[in-house]
Amino acid sequence: MSEDSLDPRQIEHDSIERGAMFGRTVKFFDEIGSTNDEAAREAVQGAPHGLVVIADRQLSGRGRTGRVWHSPAGQNLYLSVVLRPRHTLDRIAPITLVLGLAVSDLAADLLGIHRVGLKWPNDVLVGTRKLAGVLVDASSIDMQVEHLIVGIGLNVHQTEFDPSIASIATSLAKEGASELNRTRIASRLLAALEARLDEFDARGLTELVSEIRARDITLGRPVKVEGCYGIARGIADDGRLRVSFENGTTSLVHAGEVELAIYGT
Ligand code: BTN
Repeated sequence: MSEDSLDPRQIEHDSIERGAMFGRTVKFFDEIGSTNDEAAREAVQGAPHGLVVIADRQLSGRGRTGRVWHSPAGQNLYLSVVLRPRHTLDRIAPITLVLGLAVSDLAADLLGIHRVGLKWPNDVLVGTRKLAGVLVDASSIDMQVEHLIVGIGLNVHQTEFDPSIASIATSLAKEGASELNRTRIASRLLAALEARLDEFDARGLTELVSEIRARDITLGRPVKVEGCYGIARGIADDGRLRVSFENGTTSLVHAGEVELAIYGT
């Protein structure tokens, strides 16, 4: 186990210093079920935009599509941010891609741009191995968003993984990153997320989609969408993934709606 303890007060200090919204208040837990669930509880009780929940260990960390997110103590980053977007649910649909782009910005800074890829919609990979994942939980009334909970899991020190993910997971330590201090990485992660979300808020996806495409590793790859095999044909302007299927049809697939498995890599 590493001695790299998390310092929530330092994260708050860094946030206030850079005049940011994310991380001005940080709730830290040695151990919790899921930081997304705790952040949702805070949001229901009126937590402000940018409140961060961070834990050293999660007992029931969640991934997309109901998977488990392995969350051992003292190793990685598990954090969630409360967002209160002013937009309707349809307008924020591509937000998950923007968050993946932000996490990949940080990974590229720490590891070198040429090594980092994005697997649509928001897995951050180094080569073919997963470094980080993003989970967005939305609460809305009709189309009006009450709050979003943005949860990020980023592997930092871990070098031994559960057998179920050992061949597909990696960490900053395994990849030889120059920075491995979890507190400093958390501050940089929050800054990256806020910067990209501000861009998205101001200009929508139009200017970001080319950067997302540049990191997309699915293009031309065989994929499986809800049991059907096809080939990824790139990301459309609205953020959906274009997939051509074996039966000759082409569909635009929404982020969050499907499980996408690349095979043959
Ligand atoms: C995925 O790739 O499937 C998404 C993984 C998201 C994991 C993070 S860890 C912090 C937050 N709390 C959770 O329970 N899940 C997210």
